Amino acid sequence: MNIDFKELANKYQTPYYVYDFDHITTQYESLKGAFKARKSLIAYAVKANSNLSVIKHLAQLGAGADCVSIGEVKRALKVGIVPYKIIFSGVGKIDSEIKEALELDILMINVESAAELNRVETIAKELDKKARISIRVNPNIDPQTHPYISTGLHENKFGVDIDTAKRMYIQCKNSDNLDPVGIHCHIGSQLTELTPIKESVKIVADLVRNLSALNIDLSFIDIGGGLGIVYDDEVLIDVNDYAQSVLETMFGLDITIVCEPGRSLVGNSGAFVSKVLYEKVNGSKRFIIVDGAMNDLIRPALYNASHKVEVLNDNKEFTDCNLVGPICESGDFFAKNIELPQTEHNDLVVLYSAGAYCFTMASNYNTRGKVAEIAIEDGKDRLIRKRETFEDIIALEEEFIK
Ligand code: LLP
Repeated sequence: MNIDFKELANKYQTPYYVYDFDHITTQYESLKGAFKARKSLIAYAVKANSNLSVIKHLAQLGAGADCVSIGEVKRALKVGIVPYKIIFSGVGKIDSEIKEALELDILMINVESAAELNRVETIAKELDKKARISIRVNPNIDPQTHPYISTGLHENKFGVDIDTAKRMYIQCKNSDNLDPVGIHCHIGSQLTELTPIKESVKIVADLVRNLSALNIDLSFIDIGGGLGIVYDDEVLIDVNDYAQSVLETMFGLDITIVCEPGRSLVGNSGAFVSKVLYEKVNGSKRFIIVDGAMNDLIRPALYNASHKVEVLNDNKEFTDCNLVGPICESGDFFAKNIELPQTEHNDLVVLYSAGAYCFTMASNYNTRGKVAEIAIEDGKDRLIRKRETFEDIIALEEEFIK
């Protein structure tokens, strides 16, 4: 990353997130280009990084949005993504969200259970609307990733099995208030193996053909997201191989391909920068304590995920340590048993690959304000989210103090 982290720290203080928007452009263009032989829609998975400027940047490139709450739908609309490029997914949509999605006339509601289809039908009837439906199929394929981010096995809560899906499509066909337009599968995140993706898309494509024989002709096949990024030394799936494998399974189908990448568009664009507060040694264990913490970036604590760490100083002598934050939990670490140089107060520490699922999973734990977010585009930096103040954190409670 060609970013002057020190200059940004002087200008915006620490901790902060910084995202390279030109990298996001490159990622988007290469994926879109890989599918150029077909009609395609890249619906950005907003959950990965829902900063409005990030979504807007992708919107301007032509992206749609894959949303999992009405809040995310509204974020997408706010920055100019048109309703016909917005998909609403999730296993537990609440009635008011379904109602709003129907009123907003988005591209499709991605339904994840038979019970949910009934709810959507009832609500669409009340509104005198025809709901465009896509059904999430659970292909029962092991994506070979971390169990917490694996979603395509029957033991996971997502989607419905093939037979249930077929019954649901028939229900749609026979309903005045449901219009079956799409099919969807997503088997997991941070995928680095192509075979499970190909197998699951093939299962879905075969179902599309079977449905066609029942006169149910779908317009969209949504192959999910899930492409991995580099955290350590992962060998990534080449996007052209990915597109080629997907396209091969769709032989003979005249259908628009939708995919919903989150991490692969924004993950490697981002870094999280904090500064060293103190060093200490407990017994034989060395700790570096920085001003960022698990509330800012929880992936190591939650998934034991690893993010490459760089200390920005000239010390050449590296020794074993734990890199930790100030929060009162032993789970508050960024890296354990890692070789890092001796540090001094105010040295900067960069965690890479922090553009996806980092800021969006941040919290105010320990009454710590969410940090600033910065964009770099064409070599210029700009603030895209202000650092939260104490007043921001207490704003919704203050008026209720008795
Ligand atoms: N579509 C669906 C239905 C999803 O559930 C997800 C991610 C995506 C698309 C986007 O997947 P991606 O291209 O980003 O892999 N917090 C975890 C990741 C959770 C992923 C949830 N679903 C992490 O920090 O690794």
